Amino acid sequence: MEKVELGWNEFWAEIFRIRHRRQIPGIEHHDRLIGDFIMETLGLKKSDSILDIACGAGDQSVELAKQGLNVTAFDIAQVLIDAAKETAESYDVSANFYAGDMRAMEHDSMFDAAILLSHSFGFFDHEENKRVLQGAYAALKEGGCFLLDLMNPYNLPKFQRTWTPLEGGYLLNEPHVLDAPAGVLTGRPAMFIDTENDRIVLMDEDALSNNDIRMYTALEIREMLSEVGFKKVELYGHAKLPRLPYAANSERMVVIAKR
Ligand SMILES: C[S@@+](CC[C@H](N)C(=O)[O-])C[C@H]1O[C@@H](n2cnc3c(N)ncnc32)[C@H](O)[C@@H]1O
Repeated sequence: MEKVELGWNEFWAEIFRIRHRRQIPGIEHHDRLIGDFIMETLGLKKSDSILDIACGAGDQSVELAKQGLNVTAFDIAQVLIDAAKETAESYDVSANFYAGDMRAMEHDSMFDAAILLSHSFGFFDHEENKRVLQGAYAALKEGGCFLLDLMNPYNLPKFQRTWTPLEGGYLLNEPHVLDAPAGVLTGRPAMFIDTENDRIVLMDEDALSNNDIRMYTALEIREMLSEVGFKKVELYGHAKLPRLPYAANSERMVVIAKR
């Protein structure tokens, strides 16, 4: 069987964020629950503006647009932005999608809220991670809220090796491993058995290198948020209603910071 290596855009974006995510049973329901949590917890009403940072294929952005918000959303992968635009069109809602890097946000006091979902934080070194928080702070209006939906570093999921049937083949996922001294969740190599084209698709160096996630504790995140200027920080145990306080065994660590 032929072996090919693909980069971030083709492998991660197309296979993980689109084909893999969209076959997860109940994922639309999950996105609706997150949407309801965001609306209520951030106190948003129709026509308020929101920035979805690293929006992936835009599934939650579209959900928020359906709820009446004025959505701007971006991701580094153009292929995901194209998919997001198609999804918005199919639901007949509008949102402003564009391809961009979260380290170089240039929005100035424009949004009532900003969100960063599914642990899309910690991909870079400490200073660059902090720059993402600075960009989010700058993008918010005075009094605006920033929500980060993160894995709970004290209760990481039990990562396992999995085989998942996807459109056009099978995805083999190796588990993430926590490098505890470095506080980094190492990238998980994956392989796609492309039965349609009779080939094995591997991740190239670019895709693999872009895959590590620096984990932060609640105290560390609080400190970083306060250093970039956020005034008030609240923590919850998941991004669903009813709200639960954050604890060591919480499913997620959901951080809400007010400018
Ligand atoms: C775990 S996914 C989450 C996607 C989406 N928020 C969701 O919940 O489905 C992380 C996303 O971050 C994007 N990403 C990675 N580096 C980025 C960067 N420097 N700027 C913007 N997006 C980035 C990836 O392309 C990917 O879509």
